[in-house]
Amino acid sequence: MTDTAQQDRVLIFDTTLRDGEQSPGATMTHAEKLEIAGLLDEMGVDIIEAGFPIASEGDFKAVSEIARQSKTSVICGLARAQLPDIDRCWEAVKHAARPRIHTFIGTSPLHRAIPNLTMDEMADRIHDTVTHARNLCDNVQWSPMDATRTEIDYLCRVVEIAIKAGATTINIPDTVGYTAPRESAALIAMLLERVPGADQIVFATHCHNDLGMATANSLAAVEAGARQIECTINGLGERAGNTALEEVVMALKVRNDIMPFQTAIDTTKIMNISRRVATVSGFPVQFNKAIVGKNAFAHESGIHQDGMLKNAETFEIMRPEDVGLAATNLVMGKHSGRAALRSKLEELGFELGDNQLKDVFVRFKDLADRKKEIYEDDLIALMRTSTDPEDHRIQLKSLQVVCGTKGPQTADMVLTVDGEERSTTQTGDGPVDAAFNAVKALVPHEARLQLYQVHAVTEGTDAQATVSVRMEEDGRIVTGQSADTDTVVASVLAYIHALNRLLVRREKTAPGADKREISYKVVS
Ligand code: KIV
Ligand code: ZN
Repeated sequence: MTDTAQQDRVLIFDTTLRDGEQSPGATMTHAEKLEIAGLLDEMGVDIIEAGFPIASEGDFKAVSEIARQSKTSVICGLARAQLPDIDRCWEAVKHAARPRIHTFIGTSPLHRAIPNLTMDEMADRIHDTVTHARNLCDNVQWSPMDATRTEIDYLCRVVEIAIKAGATTINIPDTVGYTAPRESAALIAMLLERVPGADQIVFATHCHNDLGMATANSLAAVEAGARQIECTINGLGERAGNTALEEVVMALKVRNDIMPFQTAIDTTKIMNISRRVATVSGFPVQFNKAIVGKNAFAHESGIHQDGMLKNAETFEIMRPEDVGLAATNLVMGKHSGRAALRSKLEELGFELGDNQLKDVFVRFKDLADRKKEIYEDDLIALMRTSTDPEDHRIQLKSLQVVCGTKGPQTADMVLTVDGEERSTTQTGDGPVDAAFNAVKALVPHEARLQLYQVHAVTEGTDAQATVSVRMEEDGRIVTGQSADTDTVVASVLAYIHALNRLLVRREKTAPGADKREISYKVVS
């Protein structure tokens, strides 16, 4: 094994806030983006891709503020191969102590056909745009999108052009998750060997997970000479997602004997940021997800438990505390005070102001009255329930459902909408359907329910249910979440949360539309 001090550094480029946030439904608010960027910076991420500044005013503002608040990380913005995109990107990232412009164009035959450029025309465009970016910023990354399906000779040609035009990092994206480990390694090795100037720049690998090989492909690329891995927390991203940061970082740490590379990541911060990203993106982590899944360190079977008690190494290749997981999950009860709650929440990665703490404490006490033992997962679920004032125009005042073997199931509901009280009684195919029909009757809308998902937070019949609801209206996708020991209440709160977020999105994209389109009618 090599001395770790002498090992090559692999840069970690996190794109949770750009490629991850691009995932339909994973939209984060401005405050949430700033918070996640702060956590990424603190955990030692080398480069944060903070957004796509030309995409919207919101993206521009988020990238600019993340740049301003950045401490150690390089702050990068994405730009298409167009001069106005690059200028806008620079306007946003220039506030960072260490800014980077990342510009890209699709180079495979399928992608070249979209702007209808010949190979020569595209080569000229690459030269001009990278030169322009480099005149603005001395840290420029260039990506040939869909590189793994680009003709090899053409890929070598355009990579050489980008290097000569001043790119300091060349990223090789497997945009559609098509490559396999051997091929991923061979591609990087080939570029290093064939392209003049390749030894002067950093090669990055950017893998999507459509065939479940993103982590393996990224590590293979590193073994062949790539020195930057592009990834997201929890593997968030379009379709099957991107390479998961926690997987590549822990693989390099645990198997340092065969992959002798160092990262600057403080791995004990992994669990906290994973939970925060799951919460704010509305994409829960699957239970058996490597490193951060609820079951990743749980040993259920008798043989495993017996072995673990005798020697943890029998079944554990890394310690829970290496990724920031506390040894016990049982935390508090109804007698726990405010200071204990604050300290536990801080441990879980939630920094609260005094007013926020006051609000959470009230909800914590309410939960503790209904549930004897409060676990970490209960607190996380509690924090998932939004307290953002923007999310509260529609509020649930009361709900009473009648359900059982004899239908129809009915829901009596009172909501307040901008302070005005509305009530109705509706029936449905089951209590949740009846309750959702009541919401629809009180807040008529055309939004389509895309996803309704329920999970028990802990074991036991008094467990809280966390509910995620995803809705779509005119291409705008929002998610709502809530938790309660009553599944129907949690469902309605999640539904209302999504509707409130839809109002905010409408207001942002078309000011005044929220008032125009939402009509409140009394149905009872
Ligand atoms: O997957 C991809 O090709 C990308 C590029 C914009 C780098 O995300
Ligand atoms: Zn991507």
